[in-house]
Amino acid sequence: MAAHLRLLLILCQLTGIYSISKVSVKAGDSITIPCLYQSRYTNRVKYLCKGYRWDSCSFAVKTNKPDRSGKFSISDDKNEEIFTVTIKYLTTTDTDYWCNVEIDHGADYGEYFHLVVTGKPSLYVDSQEIKAYIGDDLAIRCYHGSSGKMQWCRLGRNCVTGPLGKIGENEVTINSTIPHVSTVTMSKVTRQSSGWYLCVQGDLQMPVHVTVTERPVITTSTPLLTSGSGGGETAKHSSSVLLMSLIIPLSLLIVVVMVTLFIFWILKKHRTRNSQSPPMAVSPCGSDGDVLYSSVLITKPQKDEAKRVKAQEEHLTYSTLKNSHS
Ligand SMILES: *[C@@H]1O[C@H](CO)[C@@H](O)[C@H](O)[C@H]1NC(C)=O
Repeated sequence: MAAHLRLLLILCQLTGIYSISKVSVKAGDSITIPCLYQSRYTNRVKYLCKGYRWDSCSFAVKTNKPDRSGKFSISDDKNEEIFTVTIKYLTTTDTDYWCNVEIDHGADYGEYFHLVVTGKPSLYVDSQEIKAYIGDDLAIRCYHGSSGKMQWCRLGRNCVTGPLGKIGENEVTINSTIPHVSTVTMSKVTRQSSGWYLCVQGDLQMPVHVTVTERPVITTSTPLLTSGSGGGETAKHSSSVLLMSLIIPLSLLIVVVMVTLFIFWILKKHRTRNSQSPPMAVSPCGSDGDVLYSSVLITKPQKDEAKRVKAQEEHLTYSTLKNSHS
């Protein structure tokens, strides 16, 4: 059983590409290299090692140790079991690297790759990063210096050599009518089409990353919603948002009307009470400390009693008390 599995693995490795070995790059540009690893290494530290010899290479960047210079970066996609390393500002000294996995008690696991840094690369693409929506037909141009046969591979899976083939569920065509440019088309991509692919010619590879996402739903009625994504969810979401956008101003209006009515009612009540009630006398008691005023009530004067009130007012006395302790 184990022997059978091993044979199957060897057969797969014969037809597919599991690691990048040689990439032609332009000086000054940057390159991203995907490094495939086995699932047993998922939680291990991954790193890029610089140098021709595995036993004397020095690490450039680790997944737990970022590079401060900004030349190297690394990221680990544990779901895909691929970590990627990016090398910027390529110079002719950026030639020999290793994709390594740290092993605690034992030798680190590593895969060597070689960069050919030139003024004019022999195998390249317009962009290493391609974004598409589900159902799109992808067209990728691979430019190559020599007129040899070009292959299109999915990293860790199979390759398409001829003009027609299949990778996973995707139909692949390679059109090499134009010399030195091969156009690869992948029809009706799905979410599963996302991943790392390679243009391959001779011993050179050029990695290309494809990201397939759901097409965003654009609703014209409410511009707020255009940023949302996801089909059925968005439709359900939009009706509730619409409802909310009606309810909030409506309830605000009701509150404002109620408050206004209440204020009017209070004012009205206050005014009627004022006209009925007698004036209040103020009695500031003991604010001075040594003077006390007795409260005085003045009743509203009647028409014919004006004189009598005046006399009464003169008759009023303020009782003054000295503080007993002073
Ligand atoms: C290949 O591309 C050329 C030029 O773009 C086009 O004329 C030709 O029809 C294509 N061939 C196929 C088989 O699609």
